[in-house]
Amino acid sequence: MFSLLSTQQLSTRSVESLLRRSQYFTTKDYMWKNQATVVNLFYEPSTRTCLSFQQAAHRLGLTILDFAIDKSSVQKGETFIDTLQTLNAIGVDLAVIRHQEDWPTLVDSTGLNISLVNAGSGTLEHPTQALLDALTIQQHYGSLNGLKVTIVGDVLHSRVARSNAHLLQLMGATVQCAGPTEYTDESIPGVKWVDFDEAIPDSDVIMMLRIQKERHQSQQCITNYHEKFGLNQARLKAMASNAIILHPGPVNRNVEICDEAMADPRCKILQQVKNGVAVRMAVLEWCLQGGSNEKLVSA
Ligand code: CP
Repeated sequence: MFSLLSTQQLSTRSVESLLRRSQYFTTKDYMWKNQATVVNLFYEPSTRTCLSFQQAAHRLGLTILDFAIDKSSVQKGETFIDTLQTLNAIGVDLAVIRHQEDWPTLVDSTGLNISLVNAGSGTLEHPTQALLDALTIQQHYGSLNGLKVTIVGDVLHSRVARSNAHLLQLMGATVQCAGPTEYTDESIPGVKWVDFDEAIPDSDVIMMLRIQKERHQSQQCITNYHEKFGLNQARLKAMASNAIILHPGPVNRNVEICDEAMADPRCKILQQVKNGVAVRMAVLEWCLQGGSNEKLVSA
């Protein structure tokens, strides 16, 4: 069985292949040739990721089992691994998992015969988000190579930032980060920390992040956040005319990003969501067929 657990497992060639296949799925459907059963296992809330994986599975003609953690035996104390082994025994072929922990490290040696797709693991990884962000950037610029991407905000608690930093650099982009010192993580490989205002004019992509209060160890409220670090009207004016705005969502309006920026033609947030379905179709197919959709790219 093949799994997508981390952006670190992807080569340049596999990202290119997944993005080509995702682009194909933005306009066309394709029925998966074999019977396969998938389930979404979300231990944390989600709108976009959960529903777009469901939509992707529908469009591939897969069987989708309904699983809600709050109505499951997780409430009776069933462990994460026992739940996975139960799904395996039921005949699930692929589980899409979001968990507050670094869950891929928990399943290493469990002998599970099931594909796993990481839909978010703690603060570390959200590979399909990075892929859909890459697709959105590529649709605008044609390529990721040579672009300057500025990621802004609560980087410390962001799996989106970590997955993007790795994947976008792999594909030739320069990634820099900005935000409050309280949310800084200097350990992300290859990433330079910059002043947001100084970085804006020559950024090709400005990726705003949600403040993730649910992961804060203590009260880490930044006063006047919007004025200091938000994409407000003044910063919107300072952006290059061809630059684009991304945000993984959900958005805290007028905290990370002002209403005017949300309505600006350079804002690609809903395009990201739309691309999420196509990317997840490509990822489901990639996992179910064992890791390569190269031969299907021009199907
Ligand atoms: N971007 C993202 O992961 O959004 P959801 O939490 O709504 O899935």
